[in-house]
Amino acid sequence: MNAAHPYRLMQYSLQTVDPDLAALIDAEGQRQNESLELIASENFTSAAVLECLGSPLTNKYAEGLPGRRYYGGTEIVDDIERLAQKRALAAFGLDASGWAVNVQPYSGSTANAAVYLGLLQPHDRIMGLDLPSGGHLTHGFMTTKRRVSGTSVYYESIPYQVGADGLIDYDAMERMALIVKPKLIICGYSAYSRDLDYARFRAVADKVGAYLMCDMAHFNGFVAAGLLANPFEYADVVTTTTHKTMRGPRAGIIFMRSALAQRINDAVFPGLQGGPHMNQIAAVATQLLQVAGPAYKEYMAAVQQNARALAAALIDRDFEVVTGGTDNHIILLNVRKWGLSGAQAEVALEHCNVSVNKNTIAGDTSALNPSGIRIGLPAMTTRGMKPADMEWVAGVIERALRYGCTIAQRSLESFRAECEWSKELEELKAEVKGRCAGMFPVAGTDELRR
Ligand SMILES: Cc1ncc(COP(=O)(O)O)c(C=O)c1O
Repeated sequence: MNAAHPYRLMQYSLQTVDPDLAALIDAEGQRQNESLELIASENFTSAAVLECLGSPLTNKYAEGLPGRRYYGGTEIVDDIERLAQKRALAAFGLDASGWAVNVQPYSGSTANAAVYLGLLQPHDRIMGLDLPSGGHLTHGFMTTKRRVSGTSVYYESIPYQVGADGLIDYDAMERMALIVKPKLIICGYSAYSRDLDYARFRAVADKVGAYLMCDMAHFNGFVAAGLLANPFEYADVVTTTTHKTMRGPRAGIIFMRSALAQRINDAVFPGLQGGPHMNQIAAVATQLLQVAGPAYKEYMAAVQQNARALAAALIDRDFEVVTGGTDNHIILLNVRKWGLSGAQAEVALEHCNVSVNKNTIAGDTSALNPSGIRIGLPAMTTRGMKPADMEWVAGVIERALRYGCTIAQRSLESFRAECEWSKELEELKAEVKGRCAGMFPVAGTDELRR
């Protein structure tokens, strides 16, 4: 192309047109590669998914559903969206005569919002797991001071909770439901390490005439692999993200009983969203092909084995694991026993390149100063870690937190400053960097950039 062409910048790489941004992206790639990534909601997606995200599908507008679009030129993206729908049903063993699926939600939050918009009237009552008990913001979180989530602004949220043992108190949930008679009961979680009793949720929903929605964003991979109970046997609607255990792009999916499909489809578009992100939908489609295959089932089994092995190794080191173990990919660690706050534990670990997040533990009153951390295994399992590696992971966590204990009396700011200068954490960081980048590198991204 002529160098003077007005559109010449269109053909060059990011490195050429915007080296500052390219350097930042490279730095983030390097940070990920050199980190022990234990954030339960994160994963490393494949080169195939990244290829879809950066494809010409980004250019296409396609409001509406396949075959019923508001734009021309959609015959190819229609095929792509139909493929994603078909693969979504197949991955979870669903029959198109009883279930419908919408693959357009931009994320898990908008998937949930669309279900509420489709099934509820403003101020209808909903019951979801309280955020401090492990529920998600979009399940209706509010405090005494503030309706934090939009869900609690538009609907009346009456949460159920876990008991002192860290397990959902199903009896209390039922008692509350019989009193408040919610229109929707939500099961599913962001920080809970045990499987759910869907039959019990269904029975309560039937008693009070409520819809039952399951948000399987965190554990969809286990459902697809048959490693945890199947919510589809009981729920009216199942929502999910596609980027956590599922390992796809960032997006959402809604599965709904066919009778509810029109209301929820209308809520996605035109109710809440505009044009679907066709590049994302293609990426979801290719990931769903993986999810239906045997290698993915092996992967999910490995995630579960790693989580169990790490929980056991942490208990051996005198840590308090909430509920005494895990059924899924999540470990909740109560660090108060060690004299630390969850925020301090997060900071100490961050200073040796270990990513976790602070998390509330049953009974906590502040989400900003909680007693625990949440640890998850999907990401490092993708990078090849095995149960035998969990001894090393537990040892890293122990060494960082033992150091944290020696400075735990300080304010968070001065705790952070102290970590900044700590020789112990610096040595640990070098060890984490070397082992993660050397033995468990992030695959795929380099090849794609070449
Ligand atoms: C259970 C659950 N639902 C929904 C969401 C929201 O997903 P997104 O961040 O894609 O909006 C999350 C994300 O953390 C989640 O854990």
